[in-house]
Amino acid sequence: MVKIERLLVNKNKTIKEAMRVIDKGAIKTAIVVDESKKLCGMVTDGDIRRGILRGVGIDEKVSEVMNKNPIYAYTNTPKEEILNILKNKKIPNLPLVDKNKVVKDFVLLSGGIDLSYFNINPKLKKHLNKILVIGGAGYIGSVLVRKLLGKGYEVNVLDNFTYVKKSLEGIKLNPKLKIIEGDTRHISYVSEALQDVDAVVHLAEIVGDPACALDTRKTQEINYLATRTIALMCKHFQINRLVYASSCSVYGASKGDELLNEESELNPVSLYAKMKIASENALTEMMDENFRPTILRLSTVFGFSHRPRFDLVVNLLTAKALKENKITIFGGDQWRPNVHVADVADTIISVLEAPIDVVGGKTFNVGTEENNYTINKIGELIKEVIPSANVVIENKDVDKRDYKVDFSRIRKTLGIKMRMSMSDGIKEIKEAFEKNPDLDYTKRRYSNIKFLEKNHLK
Ligand SMILES: NC(=O)c1ccc[n+]([C@@H]2O[C@H](COP(=O)([O-])OP(=O)(O)OC[C@H]3O[C@@H](n4cnc5c(N)ncnc54)[C@H](O)[C@@H]3O)[C@@H](O)[C@H]2O)c1
Repeated sequence: MVKIERLLVNKNKTIKEAMRVIDKGAIKTAIVVDESKKLCGMVTDGDIRRGILRGVGIDEKVSEVMNKNPIYAYTNTPKEEILNILKNKKIPNLPLVDKNKVVKDFVLLSGGIDLSYFNINPKLKKHLNKILVIGGAGYIGSVLVRKLLGKGYEVNVLDNFTYVKKSLEGIKLNPKLKIIEGDTRHISYVSEALQDVDAVVHLAEIVGDPACALDTRKTQEINYLATRTIALMCKHFQINRLVYASSCSVYGASKGDELLNEESELNPVSLYAKMKIASENALTEMMDENFRPTILRLSTVFGFSHRPRFDLVVNLLTAKALKENKITIFGGDQWRPNVHVADVADTIISVLEAPIDVVGGKTFNVGTEENNYTINKIGELIKEVIPSANVVIENKDVDKRDYKVDFSRIRKTLGIKMRMSMSDGIKEIKEAFEKNPDLDYTKRRYSNIKFLEKNHLK
């Protein structure tokens, strides 16, 4: 049973301490009380962020930003009367006090008509209303944004639309979606996008080893300096849930045959991986009792998306098998973990919805052991789905990344299971081509490296 104490904060505590109470709860509110637990005020995360915008510091007293005249009811007030107060005053909740104004309980209006008393309804999960997805027009982002909207969240997207604009067609008029076109290297765009959000998912970087090698200065600006600044801004505005998309590429060229877990040694073999490590470290250094980002080290992603990518190994080889009847695999003994794009989006949502104490400040590999494959095996799986394809193995130009990854931490912590096998993903790509025979996978917009070779980063 959740105790009302979890919602209380003493009036002499700081704004930062009040925010911690709010972050841990599920109702975006803390009740401010004196030493004898008498009601003094109420404070929401919105009150705190508006206070910060006015220039109030987070080490000042919570009484600086709280509502000093909150609406309350007495413990013996009949339910119908409480319901009327909530409706007439258009508020979602109120504290219940005894005749001495000591806080005893808390009432939430759930689903618009039913009252639920906090003590008997501890499983309410609605700690987030609005989520900012930075890079929401991308391969992963365009799937994630649709899933978030489908679950009823409000979503802000910040993206500079490096590759395509089309990926948000069909949802761009959704009233719950706000699109901010801007670059993460300009803090005024980031600041605008952060307004009123409860959590941030950061996906906007230059992705992949070859694409990052094209312009190493801009890669560092976007993949490290902007990421670090975004984290700093979240911390400043007390948006303490930040999900950062790192990559299993950080494991690089691993030695030996053992499964790598989150504590394993990192052996980056590219600027892309080095920048991921630098950003992970920056986030970890910034962590404190409130600001607790979650780092997700994603496997290589496969599957179809609203921004298709055909520079990812499974998608590319499947497209080649279908369109050219031939795939060439270079030095195919290296192991890689793989994960479907929909499973990545679902995992991000599970992290957002988990209590901050469970996921905050943690690093997780994202994927499943069943999708650890050698490149040769990926060729075999494609051949099973597309038997006409010729698989040629060549022993040159080997990408040195070689790692088998352990995913027990995320499985045990969140109790989630990746649903899509690699064969499912290959079949999905095949079906996408069957539905759209004109789909030209060689177009520049489907490949980060090809696109950036031609259209240099600004
Ligand atoms: N796809 C994978 O296999 C994979 C694997 C591991 C990790 N990741 C990570 O997941 C994240 C998303 O990857 P993705 O596959 O969706 O990539 P993507 O290239 O499809 O999407 C990135 C999005 O970010 C936007 N963007 C890039 N630079 C920006 C900037 N400076 N300002 C604003 N927007 C900018 C792009 O326009 C694009 O919409 C990345 O951080 C990537 O490193 C991806």
